[in-house]
Amino acid sequence: MRLALALALALAVAGCSTPLPDDGPCRSPPLNKGPWVMRADDTSAAVFWETRDPGCVALGLTLEAGGSESLLTGASVATTVESSYGVNQVMMPDIAGTYYLARVDATKLSPGTCYTYRVRATDGAPDARGRFCTARPPSLEGQPLRFFVIGDTNPRIGHTADVLKHTLPEKPDFLLHTGDIQYYSSTETWSYWFGAMAPMLRAGAFFPAIGNHEDEKEGGGTEFADYYDRLFHQPSLDGDGTPKWYRFTSGGVWFHTIDTEEPYDSGSPQYLWLSESLKEVAQKPGYRLSVIYMHRNLYTIGDAHPNVEVRKSLAPLFAAYKVRLVLSGHMHGYERFEVGSITYITTAGGGGIITEVTKNAPLYPEDAKLRVVGLPAYHAMLFDVRPLGTATELHGRAIDESGATLDDFTHTIP
Ligand SMILES: [Fe+2]
Repeated sequence: MRLALALALALAVAGCSTPLPDDGPCRSPPLNKGPWVMRADDTSAAVFWETRDPGCVALGLTLEAGGSESLLTGASVATTVESSYGVNQVMMPDIAGTYYLARVDATKLSPGTCYTYRVRATDGAPDARGRFCTARPPSLEGQPLRFFVIGDTNPRIGHTADVLKHTLPEKPDFLLHTGDIQYYSSTETWSYWFGAMAPMLRAGAFFPAIGNHEDEKEGGGTEFADYYDRLFHQPSLDGDGTPKWYRFTSGGVWFHTIDTEEPYDSGSPQYLWLSESLKEVAQKPGYRLSVIYMHRNLYTIGDAHPNVEVRKSLAPLFAAYKVRLVLSGHMHGYERFEVGSITYITTAGGGGIITEVTKNAPLYPEDAKLRVVGLPAYHAMLFDVRPLGTATELHGRAIDESGATLDDFTHTIP
């Protein structure tokens, strides 16, 4: 008995540097935000969460298909939130102070495999559970790639939970976000957002694009540094871009995100990076196609304006390097344009108030002819990518908050 107690104390002092039995003392301080997953590639992923207090950082990892649980340990770093928002105004304000960002790196994983994890809670609280998948090999043999896309998530308005309820059970491999993640402009705090969005954050690795609402600076604050850049810093692996624009791959499909709050016109650092990267990935073995995702629109006829100048300079890149799908957010609704062999979609129905999806049609009559669907609807999207002989089949669905399918299309990409 004394030995067991001594061992438990030693492990507690060691800060979980060794695997622990399931009933061991290594439990996280209460979680303040998360967990969520980033930096997933074919053999690794990183699980993050935030606590108010320092303490043990460990989780249990299990194959989603079943099997024994492995215990992994990590570390937390003290981070600083400079600004407060919503104090004495909302139930869950964002409060300045020191917060601990916990991180566990899961390595030596199997490609194309899904895992579940649990962050072991302090006594009395339920474990925080989630899942993620590693990147699939380019062959996609017997393993279609499924990914989820949502934009403009403003759960406080009241539609997001139902959108998630009808899409996440289909178990996507990972999650794209087309930006405008959270809205101070509708008195929605990050503290609230993380709770409301937990079903999404726990459903797969998160690959966000940056929108205009990530840096609202309400009251002269420091929102971007305090939240997006502190919590979602470098969602892909180091070397695959910057904290603001980056790339990753799964199943022979390469995904690039552009930060449309920064210059991305011809000659900008971002444009040069994108052009070099598209050229590079198009030469890789097993390359199928590229997907670009971003916040502001290259095509829209709703109540936002398309960036006509930049799309002229991007079009040759997209054509040369087999970009076949371009996803954006920002214009709160759903639109699909078919422009030659490239599908441009506005998917910005994640919760922000739906607006006028055909307002600017008179300003862009030629673009209006290319729009095949335009709907003022809360929704998210699911995409499936599968081999079709030597070609690739891309199947997209937009699903609304009642579970109804708003749009369903399939393209065969030679
Ligand atoms: Fe926006």
